[in-house]
Amino acid sequence: MTEIVQVKNPATGEVVDEIKRDTEAQINEKIEAGYTAFQTWKKTNAHKRSELLGKWSSLVREHKESIAEVMTKENGKPLAESRGEVDYAVSYIDWYAEEAKRLYGRIIPSHADDKQLEVTKHPVGLVAAITPWNFPAAMMTRKAAPALAAGCTFIVKPAEETPLTTIRLVELAHEAGIPEDVLQVVSTRGSIAGRLFTESKLINKITFTGSTPIGKTLIKSSADTVKSVTMELGGHAPLIVAEDANIDLAVQQTIVTKFRNAGQTCVCANRIIVHESIVDRFAEQLAAETKKLKVGNGLDESTVIGPVINKGAYEKIVEQIDDAIAKGAKVLAGGSYDVDDEKGYYFIHPTVLAKATDDMLIMHEETFGPVAPITSFSSLDEAIKIANDTPYGLAAYFFTNDYRTGTYLKDNLDYGIIGWNDGAVSAAHVPFGGMKESGLGREGGMEGIEAYLETKYVSIGSLLTE
Ligand code: SIN
Repeated sequence: MTEIVQVKNPATGEVVDEIKRDTEAQINEKIEAGYTAFQTWKKTNAHKRSELLGKWSSLVREHKESIAEVMTKENGKPLAESRGEVDYAVSYIDWYAEEAKRLYGRIIPSHADDKQLEVTKHPVGLVAAITPWNFPAAMMTRKAAPALAAGCTFIVKPAEETPLTTIRLVELAHEAGIPEDVLQVVSTRGSIAGRLFTESKLINKITFTGSTPIGKTLIKSSADTVKSVTMELGGHAPLIVAEDANIDLAVQQTIVTKFRNAGQTCVCANRIIVHESIVDRFAEQLAAETKKLKVGNGLDESTVIGPVINKGAYEKIVEQIDDAIAKGAKVLAGGSYDVDDEKGYYFIHPTVLAKATDDMLIMHEETFGPVAPITSFSSLDEAIKIANDTPYGLAAYFFTNDYRTGTYLKDNLDYGIIGWNDGAVSAAHVPFGGMKESGLGREGGMEGIEAYLETKYVSIGSLLTE
């Protein structure tokens, strides 16, 4: 029997569309087709692959407005953010269309007169991706564009909350001339995709963006077939404001990083750690700016904060807020909700909590919502200790105009991505990824295509002496 999944607008609970789930047999057929297509795609020359990616990027740009609207309807983010995400998604396709032409090998100076030592780069094979609901366009192109550029074929399983953006992107890729079996989408539950992808001997690489517990499961189950994995997992970003920081800039950039996508990003600041001499002033200013952020349906152009994705997300965030208040946190902004369980929408007014302490859940669990807990520190070493006291190591931010303070912080924070006086750190041409339990490998930049390449070393001997 065909299973149908309803895609609902998280701002209204209305059904946006219905999607048929693939059966396991259909998914296995797609895996086989992707494997067969790899035999040809890997031989399609780099300039041709680059040209096809370029055409894909042009089509996505041309359809920006309709893709942004679909994204807002299925994800809830404000239209301005959806448009920004389409641009962000396109920037990955553009960057890797160029990188396709730069997959150089090298000749290594030899230790012997009769040997030539050669290193060449080769696509890893068929890649399977599991992508998240929070950035349904950019997380897909951040994986697919480098994979296709490298000569890999690609199957993506989008989140069941937000499959429509991905389906549209894949249609446009086919329209651009990328063969259907080279880039495929499957519709199924995460657990089924995880099992079929990791068990398959035809798939050589798994790339995943999502939670740390699911990432660990995928890593474990990829071990039997020794698959390469790239994992973009959870984060719990600290944001440190040093004594000498420009407070206006720190407040403005905290808003940028904390409330993007209603706080539902892996790199959102989760713990605001401010020097004790300025903490009250910073908190007051942050609260005043936060109160100006308009909450509502993302289709309304004036909305800045959309709903959170679903009831589970809402409950987790409210549990953290309640726990913090019970343990002494002071609500300076927000702390209120607009919820309809029957219709199925959940809005959380952007919230600033002062006097956060180490015993609160919010200081140790990823929040994934529009809540900014503020704590204070008296010495830089204390700030670093609080910041690093987590199994996560994705993004960290700090604000200081003192070069020595900045250098000490950047050298001692155990994070893969650091923003110094900067709350908007992501871009197609830089490496994105985390240390510790925030993941394995990097996406974006030159590192992002290396993840889809194998290295072959050839030692050529007697050829040169006979
Ligand atoms: C994420 O939250 O997973 C991605 C955010 C980004 O690329 O900036």
